[in-house]
Amino acid sequence: MIQMYDVHKKYTENVEALNGINLKISKGEFVFITGPSGAGKTTFIKIILGWEKIDRGQMIINGINMLKIKRSKLSFLRRNIGVVFQDFKLIKSRSVYDNIAFPQKVIGIPYKEIKRNTWEILKNIGLSNKKDSFPLELAGGEQQRIAIARALINKPKILLADEPTGNIDPEMMWEIMKLFIKANINGTTVVFATHNRDLLKTTKQRVIHLKKGKIVE
Ligand SMILES: Nc1ncnc2c1ncn2[C@@H]1O[C@H](COP(=O)(O)OP(=O)(O)O)[C@@H](O)[C@H]1O
Ligand SMILES: [Mg+2]
Repeated sequence: MIQMYDVHKKYTENVEALNGINLKISKGEFVFITGPSGAGKTTFIKIILGWEKIDRGQMIINGINMLKIKRSKLSFLRRNIGVVFQDFKLIKSRSVYDNIAFPQKVIGIPYKEIKRNTWEILKNIGLSNKKDSFPLELAGGEQQRIAIARALINKPKILLADEPTGNIDPEMMWEIMKLFIKANINGTTVVFATHNRDLLKTTKQRVIHLKKGKIVE
């Protein structure tokens, strides 16, 4: 699903954000990416999305060679990747319902199906009573659940998360975590970047530890 061979990424001459990454993440895996601030976690997520280009090495995502991919193909690849950020990135001027409906409209799903899918996922995350609310009327944990629903609504093969519990109260953290685990049980490959030790301590998923752009364990 995700393969990297000797991947290097520099933003400036002296900073190697990723410095020779080799790994393979198989279909259906749940992998934590961890390490201190500046270790390269966000860069790791961004290169999978194609938001940053790698300088050297090879990278294959969903069978697509990312070095050779044309810009026009990138949007197609991204349809198979859902992503969740620390700061939710919901559309503030749109209702909860519209935030989740939007990615479905983009790929041309019929109105009735959008309605059914959106309603179902709102029920699954326990927020159907908030469908007409606006993001800023909700607590952080609620906003993040909406963002996860939005990331999953088109059934991506890969779900990426960059510090998704970073702005969440500790008691809500496990609610968020549960949604990722559920997505993984349903077959989605999950790559979860976090430096939260509490999350890592209690889970049995594979942990890839980055330090200064290298895998250290
Ligand atoms: N857009 C950028 N321009 C220049 N340097 C960057 C940029 N983004 C990240 N970096 C640098 O790359 C390194 C890795 O950053 P990042 O991937 O954000 O790490 P993490 O998410 O683990 O904190 C850091 O040294 C950071 O300062
Ligand atoms: Mg980061």
